[in-house]
Amino acid sequence: MGQDTASSKVRRDDSLTVLDNRTGKQYNVPIKHNTIPAPFFKTIRAPSGPNDRPEDESERGLRVSDRGFLNTAVIESSITYIDGDNGILRYRGYPIEQLAAKSSFLECAYLLIYGSLPTRAQLSYFEPEVLNHGVMHADAAGFFRAFRYDAHPMAILTSAFAYLGSYYREANPSLQEYLHEWCKGGPGCTSEHGQADFRLIGKATTLAAMAYRVRQGREFVVPPTGMSYTESFLFQLDHLSHSDAFPTTLTSGGATYRPHPVLVRALDILFILHADHEMNASSTTVLQTGSSLPDPYSAIAAGCASLYGPLHGGANEAVIRMLVSIGSPENVPEFLAAVKRREKVLSGFGHRVYKTSDPRSFIIRKVADEVFAVTGADPLLNTAMALHDAALKDAYFVSRKLAPNVDFWSGLIYRAMGFPMDFFPVLFVVPRVVGWLAHWRQMMLSPEGVKIWRPRQIYVGPSERPYVPLEERQGVEGIGKEPSVVVHSGITKRRRLVEEGSVAKSKL
Ligand SMILES: CC(C)(COP(=O)(O)OP(=O)(O)OC[C@H]1O[C@@H](n2cnc3c(N)ncnc32)[C@H](O)[C@@H]1OP(=O)(O)O)[C@@H](O)C(=O)NCCC(=O)NCCS
Repeated sequence: MGQDTASSKVRRDDSLTVLDNRTGKQYNVPIKHNTIPAPFFKTIRAPSGPNDRPEDESERGLRVSDRGFLNTAVIESSITYIDGDNGILRYRGYPIEQLAAKSSFLECAYLLIYGSLPTRAQLSYFEPEVLNHGVMHADAAGFFRAFRYDAHPMAILTSAFAYLGSYYREANPSLQEYLHEWCKGGPGCTSEHGQADFRLIGKATTLAAMAYRVRQGREFVVPPTGMSYTESFLFQLDHLSHSDAFPTTLTSGGATYRPHPVLVRALDILFILHADHEMNASSTTVLQTGSSLPDPYSAIAAGCASLYGPLHGGANEAVIRMLVSIGSPENVPEFLAAVKRREKVLSGFGHRVYKTSDPRSFIIRKVADEVFAVTGADPLLNTAMALHDAALKDAYFVSRKLAPNVDFWSGLIYRAMGFPMDFFPVLFVVPRVVGWLAHWRQMMLSPEGVKIWRPRQIYVGPSERPYVPLEERQGVEGIGKEPSVVVHSGITKRRRLVEEGSVAKSKL
């Protein structure tokens, strides 16, 4: 019996037979890793049919359509594995539950980027490298101070990553002679990759803390030494007096401020959970941007912008706004009825890959209890629990396999820890820099080299048509006729009255 199974495995033909009914031709498509190569379909050609438009390009090969990347693998990766049906998440093979329980964030960072958990010697090299790279050039203060007092911290942080790249010309392959080597992942690029990893992880906390402090009109803090990654981050956010400013060494029991150890560990676990999630929207954006070979700082800035959308990293902020709008547990049924009428979205529920509970949501729920034991429970917790329990029993959500994702609880923890709501996505970006770098590095060093990510489209617009002179054109409906307000233009109502000629008219 066992032998039969083994021999049938050997005999199995790992291919797909495709019959093109337009031509009667049959094709054999290879299957590897349960995947068929989309470029193969370009070899399937047919003469244009009666219903084809010239823009369908039937003679030039079949195209594959996948709006929103529902079933398209864009890269081979050894970094993170998600089994969405069974609620499994592993970094480089290690279950997320074990990493969250036993590892530090920087150990996980090493694991994600380099492929194995660090030895003691490797960790004692990696940790100080990252932490020492946290220091920013003093000029950066001017950059941060250029933002308005009420600028969203994500606007500041996204810009800050691109700004960071301006300090490292050597990181920009288009300014280097070894562009070709970058493409091949040759030795010319590896040392720069290492530098970029240390810098970007190290400076992510510094940039985030600067974005936080500038809005409060407070001085910036030089990253301390002698603290872990997350402790240093909390220090940079909350350090107050000048008596303990810029400490070069810290001793336990000294007069210097040390962040609360429960909050440090909670943030470390949250950072582990947020460090990577395979081909999510922002990681894909980093790879898409990185594929044209800009410097990694620009690619990370692009990822940061992508993460900010409420369907991705902005969801934890959206969850709190939703809970505030619901107000109290007795309003939950009414809210869920509105979701089912498609008037509202249940933020923090649903996921493109998970069709059961997100495994991170169980870990985060436990972290929430530990944090609440120190900070006191958030007043919205009861509403959150009522919403969570009701949605999990409701046929609408059950039938669509909508379960809580990581963002459902994380916002409540951040709120209990005293972070302003618009800072929540920043707390997602800082750890996700690690995942972005891991994916970017993997792509840059791939032995086949980097291919620019240039997807196809299905053109459904007008076919070729003659040019229309200005006087003969038909107006397009829906485009406003009134001039829009140009913010900051200085064109006031008083000026417009003069410019529109009402002075002249009133004199008549
Ligand atoms: C994450 C998300 C964008 C995934 O989107 P997706 O994979 O494209 O899923 P779909 O939009 O195809 O959802 C399938 C069905 O569930 C519904 N649905 C999905 N998420 C929903 C939600 N949060 N609330 C209400 N209905 C939801 C959709 O309306 C759709 O219903 P239909 O089949 O009757 O049209 C989506 O679930 C969502 O918007 N969630 C809320 C935002 C969030 O928490 N994001 C953080 C993700 S970690």
